[in-house]
Amino acid sequence: MSEEKPLAGKTAVVTGAGRGLGRSIALSFARAGADLAICSRTMAELEAVKAEAEASGVRCVVGAVDLSDQDATKEFCDGVLAALGKVDVLVNNAGAELEIRPIAESDPDRWWKTIEINVRGPYMVTRFLLEGLSEGAKIINVTSGMGMRAGTDNSAYHISKAAMNMFTGALANELWPRKIDVNNLIPGPVATGMLNRDAVTGEKSNAEDLLEKYAENPPERFPAWERLKHPDEIGELALYMATRPVGGPTGQSFSLARRPL
Ligand SMILES: NC(=O)c1ccc[n+]([C@@H]2O[C@H](COP(=O)([O-])OP(=O)(O)OC[C@H]3O[C@@H](n4cnc5c(N)ncnc54)[C@H](OP(=O)(O)O)[C@@H]3O)[C@@H](O)[C@H]2O)c1
Repeated sequence: MSEEKPLAGKTAVVTGAGRGLGRSIALSFARAGADLAICSRTMAELEAVKAEAEASGVRCVVGAVDLSDQDATKEFCDGVLAALGKVDVLVNNAGAELEIRPIAESDPDRWWKTIEINVRGPYMVTRFLLEGLSEGAKIINVTSGMGMRAGTDNSAYHISKAAMNMFTGALANELWPRKIDVNNLIPGPVATGMLNRDAVTGEKSNAEDLLEKYAENPPERFPAWERLKHPDEIGELALYMATRPVGGPTGQSFSLARRPL
């Protein structure tokens, strides 16, 4: 393991890597020398990330897949194992907030779809890649402070992230005999389209625009002492987590938040 390329010879799967946190995580792993497999539903975004990753001299396999579709998710995972042979790092990052409104006004199908994407998706990716995870592998689940306490008007998202916190614990308990560490990454507010709730209407803002918009204060649902971060800061944290020694922390949460979670 070289200082500059701590993931040389390793492979990493990052879901939801077309933009936002997943893109930054994938590219930080590529710069660290990992061969990649990335997915989301938008091939054009994946192709752009693939080109950036390959500029670092690594391989990058892409798959356009809706992680709420079991057959498509299985096909993607089988393809990953066929192409990469093994998985050393799995980042369950893809997530969505589909139903930001009070329970009384919520649509049951969109409410449940949020759970399917945010919980069943990571479960299926992990399940279908499990046999291909190497001894000493790392699983990083991107969860949220919103999974630590109830809020208003976003119940499916809160519940999905709370479930993922428990999934991390269950997996950590089951996988320690294989020396596989499983941890939560809790980003705190980050400048992505998801943070900007206008994105619900289809707007996708880039990190720089959002950082400028919230330069003085974070979005009002966060305390004033929170800080909006660039997605690349999450890429750095994910790389730190991915490069812990075998037998590192497991069943834990790592966060860049500036408020008690
Ligand atoms: N931004 C924050 O402040 C923040 C804070 C805490 C936690 N998080 C978590 O961080 C993770 C990444 O969020 P982000 O802020 O980077 O959001 P984002 O910019 O909206 O990116 C989400 C990614 O997930 C993919 N995705 C969404 N639904 C999918 C599906 N059904 N199947 C496959 N891929 C899907 C998206 O691609 P397609 O739309 O092309 O499929 C995209 O690549 C999420 O789990 C989120 O809950 C974010």
